[in-house]
Amino acid sequence: MVHRTVPPATPAPSSPARPPAAPETPIVPAGRSTGSSRDRPREVAPDPAAVFDWVDRRAELRRRAGLTRHLRPRPADDPVLDLAGNDYLGLVRHPRVVRAAADAVLRWGGGATGSRLVTGTTELHTELEEELAGFCGAEAALVFSSGYTANLAALTALAGPGTLIVCDAYNHASLIDGCRLSRAKTAQVPHCEPGAVRSALADHGGGRALVVTDSVFSVDGDAAPLPELAEVCRAHGAGLLVDDAHGLGVVGDGGTGALAAAGLAGTPDVVATVTLSKSLGSQGGAVLGPRRVIRHLVETARTFIFDTGLAPASVGAALGALRLLREEPQRAARARQVAQRLSAGLINARLQASTPDAAVVSVHAPSPEAAVAWATACREAGVAVGCFRPPSVPDRISRLRLTARGDLTDAQIEHAVALIARCAPHPDTKS
Ligand SMILES: Cc1ncc(COP(=O)(O)O)c(C=O)c1O
Repeated sequence: MVHRTVPPATPAPSSPARPPAAPETPIVPAGRSTGSSRDRPREVAPDPAAVFDWVDRRAELRRRAGLTRHLRPRPADDPVLDLAGNDYLGLVRHPRVVRAAADAVLRWGGGATGSRLVTGTTELHTELEEELAGFCGAEAALVFSSGYTANLAALTALAGPGTLIVCDAYNHASLIDGCRLSRAKTAQVPHCEPGAVRSALADHGGGRALVVTDSVFSVDGDAAPLPELAEVCRAHGAGLLVDDAHGLGVVGDGGTGALAAAGLAGTPDVVATVTLSKSLGSQGGAVLGPRRVIRHLVETARTFIFDTGLAPASVGAALGALRLLREEPQRAARARQVAQRLSAGLINARLQASTPDAAVVSVHAPSPEAAVAWATACREAGVAVGCFRPPSVPDRISRLRLTARGDLTDAQIEHAVALIARCAPHPDTKS
């Protein structure tokens, strides 16, 4: 057996972090009375100010492990070169994308006004769904308020108790959460191993099954073996769900995505999810697949039914970006080329950088603390890079994560490589 089940959702705080119970407080089953108030011992009310004391103890544990996280509000005119965001095509501030968002706000207003099945579907939502499906070669598409809710929808609507989900160990957190929420039996298999997927499906011995994978893995930027996975799925009658968050706009001819690149677009047994917040420079997500699957989601997916529709500005921006990409398909190849040049430059500088399959490059750091110090030094020197540490990484190796942007010049790439190498921890650094 090569797989293991996905662990349950994060447990409630365990005993060392739990607030002490008030000594005189009796334990009462919820909703039951303990008799007349005259019979009850005098209760000392717990101090409300102590209720969340346990979060400070948790914060201290994270601090000691080098895992403290901070918000860093970005000024509009930040002069730093951005290799940390996911704006792969450099479209987030493109005049046509911004204009499309502004036009949508002026026409439709600031919000969608309701959930998609009530008032939250505008004609603009339908336009985006049709164009997105056409661009990616899918029969139909359904837009969500985020890629996260799109993943939760796809998993909960396509799997349930009695289904086996086979989930790559390095899948994005939103897929893992979708597995948990679906209440299906989930087998976690080693990263990018179609053989392990095959044996998990064989162990299941028939019945409904769904294999779930990122197309491009968000931490290291490596690609899933989609043709092999599709073949294994077909041999066992399983569906394949591919999260193409990092593939759309970057992978495939003109950025049409990983399914198109693998010859799987429009096939009856494959479903994709995407985000509109990376290469399309907007916000929101979508599920793409056979029309009957999309109809099933409209009628059953809770994160579709009980969520307010995507705001018109985001719908407009995504449509604007999609149309731009159709007119300028070379943007996708340039994003991949920038990633390859970043990686080659870093490897040349003797850093442990990944060889990218799309637009993400990761660079190993010796420890969480060293990764944070390295990323901070880069930012102070003028280049923003991502910093991934446990528990956001699947293998406990801390990394810098660099995202290529198709609009970077060769001079900017060279400058970024030189600066990241200059700020690198000394080879002997352990922490
Ligand atoms: C692989 C993957 N899937 C899903 C998501 C979630 O998308 P969104 O940010 O639109 O919720 C992300 C976002 O980081 C991602 O990297």
